[in-house]
Amino acid sequence: MTILVIASQKGGVGKTTVAINLSYSLAVRGHKILLVDTDPQGSVGLSLSRGARERYGFYDAIAGIKTVEELIVPTRLAEFKLMTSGKSEIFSDDSVQGNGKRLDRVKNFFDILRGQGNDLVIVDTAAGIGGITSDILKEGDSVIIPQQSEPLGVRSIPQFLKKIVRIRREGAEVNVSGILMTMVNPHQRESVESESQLRSALPPGIMFQTSIPRDSVFLRASSLGVPVGLLSRNPVPAAVAFDQFAAELEIKLGLSNNIEKDNGVKGLLD
Ligand SMILES: Nc1ncnc2c1ncn2[C@@H]1O[C@H](COP(=O)(O)OP(=O)(O)OP(=O)(O)O)[C@@H](O)[C@H]1O
Ligand SMILES: [Mg+2]
Repeated sequence: MTILVIASQKGGVGKTTVAINLSYSLAVRGHKILLVDTDPQGSVGLSLSRGARERYGFYDAIAGIKTVEELIVPTRLAEFKLMTSGKSEIFSDDSVQGNGKRLDRVKNFFDILRGQGNDLVIVDTAAGIGGITSDILKEGDSVIIPQQSEPLGVRSIPQFLKKIVRIRREGAEVNVSGILMTMVNPHQRESVESESQLRSALPPGIMFQTSIPRDSVFLRASSLGVPVGLLSRNPVPAAVAFDQFAAELEIKLGLSNNIEKDNGVKGLLD
């Protein structure tokens, strides 16, 4: 099982959108996914269900109020389960504060999930890489860094990568799965230029080949409470981009593609 953390220094770069749509695409491809929202704002839950504010979730597990098992919410896709962020106020209680203790609780939480038969746990985080996100990064296996394609946006990347180097020096095993360009607008020069600048400045392997286009369907999908892949029977381009990203990630993380395994390859005519 792989713990894949979606994190970025900057806010509003598309973390939650990536977490939801990537989880969906990977689940459709047959991987057992648990999407965990660790953003106290509860964006995953709010994007997918109206009752999310009242739900218990991640922070209630960390505070020891609920067991991990009772917090897992099924979706209409058998392979896709999620956990909302829950009532984070409880977590701000003094008894749970203090770095050492918080890290222990986060570690314990992921240890339980590691024994639960998921292929991937995908973790959405709040903007920034301090606080509990720093503990989550320490316990994760790999991190995806969504990066909005705008001129100023790319400046936060070196800072983020330095943070990963620092926590690896402290003994964490997390690696960078890659940087994913989001909100790319092919008709806007600044957007295209900031993507190509980053691609030429960084080692080629660190950036995903796939980039996510800027598209108003993401807003529509989130207002309807669905991943873009569920908007229509014929996939919209934004959904295709996430399917392509899921396929790229399968190769990068060495995940086997269950679709092929289940059906075998059949000729077109027989
Ligand atoms: N590719 C895209 N095209 C158009 N709009 C997008 C795209 N990705 C995200 N958005 C929109 O941009 C806004 C911010 O996206 P999102 O909430 O995913 O970012 P975030 O990084 O999770 O933000 P935060 O740091 O606040 O958690 C949302 O309104 C979302 O619908
Ligand atoms: Mg978010």
